[in-house]
Amino acid sequence: MRRALDLAVRGWGRVDPNPLVGAVILAQGEPVGEGYHAEFGGPHAEAVALAAAGERARGATLVTTVEPCAAVGKQPACAAAIIAAGIRRVVVAMPDPNPAMAGGGDRLRAAGIEVEIGLAREEAERQNAGFLHRHARPGRPWVVVKLATSLDHRIADGAGHSRWISGEEARDWVHWFRAGFDAIGVGGRTAQIDDPSLTVRGVTEPRRTPTRVVFLGHRRLGPEAALIRTARDVPTILIAPEFTASEAAALTERGVEAVSAATLADALALLDARGIGSIVIEGGGRLTGALLAAGLVDRLAWIVSPVWLGDHGIPAVRGFEVGSLLQAERWVVAERRPLGQDTALLFDRR
Ligand SMILES: NC(=O)c1ccc[n+]([C@@H]2O[C@H](COP(=O)([O-])OP(=O)(O)OC[C@H]3O[C@@H](n4cnc5c(N)ncnc54)[C@H](OP(=O)(O)O)[C@@H]3O)[C@@H](O)[C@H]2O)c1
Repeated sequence: MRRALDLAVRGWGRVDPNPLVGAVILAQGEPVGEGYHAEFGGPHAEAVALAAAGERARGATLVTTVEPCAAVGKQPACAAAIIAAGIRRVVVAMPDPNPAMAGGGDRLRAAGIEVEIGLAREEAERQNAGFLHRHARPGRPWVVVKLATSLDHRIADGAGHSRWISGEEARDWVHWFRAGFDAIGVGGRTAQIDDPSLTVRGVTEPRRTPTRVVFLGHRRLGPEAALIRTARDVPTILIAPEFTASEAAALTERGVEAVSAATLADALALLDARGIGSIVIEGGGRLTGALLAAGLVDRLAWIVSPVWLGDHGIPAVRGFEVGSLLQAERWVVAERRPLGQDTALLFDRR
């Protein structure tokens, strides 16, 4: 299952809105085939592993991170292929929450195959947290906040400079990470100070270009801002409590979508309505604090770099009050990943 989980991650950025899935076939304890879902609409992990195993699949055990699909979608149903291949036992990490595809386990059992569901379930669910979030239909995207922080939890120096707190490996990882999201967001102050391009420039090319989103508040971006200049090439949404008719018209003219939303929760609901199922929000500190205070963050990707920025540095989180330690919310560690001199820590809200 460990191997299957490692394989599944290779589909990151390419299979959405499908889940990440990896599979391994074992005959007499030896791996005889493996596979992962590499491309939306392409072969499923189980089918790839079955093809690799060929005749050796007969009487073997199939280990897969997600329950095999029962229904025919863009690909033939995996449950039928597993039965036809003569697999004797199937070990699954997480059940498929998609009602259109679920029921594979029952179908396999009905065919006399031994099925075990739940091995490393938590890990598989963490890997597919965005997918599971979408199927729970909460009315807003899966929200991940990503920040590069100093040892004293600052995200910029006193003058607002944040390039670069983290090293090259961490920045490469961020480009890989971005590829797995429908949208990449920032606060208006960050958009003004950093003038970011919020594009994916790594080895993994996302299947769909993530939409760029700026939570402007009362700030405004000039036509010279990189996000505005390139809005014809990369989908860009600016969100503010209100735009004047002339502001909205000027933005539309430049290819930017202007969306009015009174609160962050409303803003996220409007993104959801536009088909954005996941967003990575990359600061700054005030926006992070406001999102946390409103209970709108599902995962935190917190990169820690071995550098000090001192009292004048800009805090990673602002405007988020906690009464006492007794009332403090405790999150769960989802992953710890070394990135050269830096460390990425992923935390999930319980
Ligand atoms: N190291 C990193 O990972 C990283 C990442 C991002 C940014 N940075 C640095 O952080 C600095 C900017 O961070 P910051 O904390 O000063 O600003 P920030 O979080 O970028 O600014 C908050 C922005 O969000 C808007 N907003 C919309 N709705 C809001 C709400 N409900 N509550 C609060 N804000 C809301 C604000 O509008 P209003 O102004 O109208 O309130 C403002 O434009 C820059 O120096 C940048 O370089 C570092």
